[in-house]
Amino acid sequence: MVKDAPIVEFESAGLAYEDAPETLSDLSMRLREGEFRFLCGPSGAGKTSLLKMIYLAHRPTRGRFRLFGEDAMNAPRDALPALRRRIGVVFQEFRLLDHLTAFENVALPMKVAGVNQNQYREDVSELLNWVGLGHRMDARPPTLSGGEKQRVALARALVSKPDLILADEPTGNVDPAMSERIMKLFIELNKLGAAVIVATHDLHLVQRLGKPVLRIADGRLSHAAGPGGAP
Ligand SMILES: Nc1ncnc2c1ncn2[C@@H]1O[C@H](COP(=O)(O)OP(=O)(O)OP(=O)(O)O)[C@@H](O)[C@H]1O
Ligand SMILES: [Mg+2]
Repeated sequence: MVKDAPIVEFESAGLAYEDAPETLSDLSMRLREGEFRFLCGPSGAGKTSLLKMIYLAHRPTRGRFRLFGEDAMNAPRDALPALRRRIGVVFQEFRLLDHLTAFENVALPMKVAGVNQNQYREDVSELLNWVGLGHRMDARPPTLSGGEKQRVALARALVSKPDLILADEPTGNVDPAMSERIMKLFIELNKLGAAVIVATHDLHLVQRLGKPVLRIADGRLSHAAGPGGAP
């Protein structure tokens, strides 16, 4: 990482899916260490598309994009996994592996990174307990409820202590008390230095937490100073 560089930096970037008109246009934003942003906008506006660009699942089709100070537009494919390892993602559709238990799903990023199980076993259990799934660690995703799957996905995103957390509707399937708990966890991790972007339709949470809002509408991203950027 280039020292003191923004964690995420787009300049006049655009994203077009195949021959369609641009889904996102003239995108310019910066996210620095320790910053927190909500990402709002109507369904289909491009919130997931933006998070996927940041996660390097899609590259912008024009403009400049730097991640952890590296030129992510022109980085070779084999440089991407190292950048991705610094990002924790809670996907909108969870993406859990059905043949693995909840514990194994959460542990997977550590296992893939070659970490010894003794070093992460406790972290995995602690996170699963924290999200209220201590008693379901051996369950496989097909036997979990939507909200339980979402919480496993959350634990998996956080287990590697990422520098950047991207959460796509992380409270879409849980009750209000659990939403509150999950948001508090993001805020705590943010206080410890992680940069966080949370895409959400939950305006009550956005208003109550008072964090800055990025809003996407009509293919453009705008910055709202406070929680006024309601979709
Ligand atoms: N892989 C893809 N190929 C083509 N079009 C896509 C693809 N992914 C998304 N789109 C289109 O891009 C637009 C933005 O989609 P995106 O999923 O980013 O919206 P969103 O803001 O996350 O919506 P929601 O709130 O419903 O999750 C939509 O019109 C969608 O149909
Ligand atoms: Mg989405």
